[in-house]
Amino acid sequence: MILSTKHLLGIKHLTKEDIQLILSTASDFKGVLQRPVKKVPSLRDVTIVNLFYENSTRTRMSFELAEKRLSADTLNFAASSSSAAKGETLLDTVQNILSMKVDMIVMRHSASGAPHFLSKQIDAAIINAGDGINEHPTQALLDAFSMVEKFGTLEGLRVAIIGDIMHSRVALSNIYLLKKMGAEVMVAGPPTLIPKYIKEALNVRVVYNVKEALEWCDVANVLRIQLERQNQPLFSSLREYNLAYGITRKLLDSIGKEITIMHPGPINRGVELDSDVADGSNSIILNQVENGVAVRMAALYLLRPQHSN
Ligand code: CP
Repeated sequence: MILSTKHLLGIKHLTKEDIQLILSTASDFKGVLQRPVKKVPSLRDVTIVNLFYENSTRTRMSFELAEKRLSADTLNFAASSSSAAKGETLLDTVQNILSMKVDMIVMRHSASGAPHFLSKQIDAAIINAGDGINEHPTQALLDAFSMVEKFGTLEGLRVAIIGDIMHSRVALSNIYLLKKMGAEVMVAGPPTLIPKYIKEALNVRVVYNVKEALEWCDVANVLRIQLERQNQPLFSSLREYNLAYGITRKLLDSIGKEITIMHPGPINRGVELDSDVADGSNSIILNQVENGVAVRMAALYLLRPQHSN
């Protein structure tokens, strides 16, 4: 089976079958990662550049590890230490890198649409590792993989996405994916951090009360306040945010049912999530990180250049 797309730019343009194929391929690769020898030759002779114009810990390391587990050759690019800092354009940078016989691009950029722009200019396959406030498709896929691992299916699962929905590419990719796969989705948080027409545009439930969201959901996917994307204050203070919208042990105990806790990271402990919840027995946050490697192996493998077959 093959994907319906040459690039992985977002979940928006994937079919349900594409998502199922990526998740089932990831399941096979997770099996590989449990073995003493965690490496397969699938992408031998394929060269991949990890082009990061924005900071990252999990996504960049996870892609690099996935590439190494697949026996690909990898190059790492950080904009801050590159000639982009001297004014070189994105397209010039990429064309120079591709001229060194690089086959695939993994790309993170602060501008929404940057990988989409690039995909119209070059032939190499591009995987979007997060573009501005638009999409973060591999995060949504690893989140889905982690939920399927725990619950067996996404069909009918109630997922509340809580926090800064407005500035979150993780929220948008998760909503697209969960709706395509038959889950029920609610977004919750302060009115200033939830887009006004999201209910009509994306067919999700909206509440402004976190307790109500927790009472409704099986899974709470808690998001960071993305202060770096806010050019004006959208809530009074981080302390007051924690009091009104933070997920605390006391709040969870007052609900009296098991809720699976997810977070894409990095966590701002004591703001959107208290430490005893992040590190508690219902948290699958580190499972998400672990599963990211298998999911990214699947995406790279399914988008590999033809010469590697
Ligand atoms: N979840 C996520 O994208 O984390 P990083 O920014 O560390 O890659």
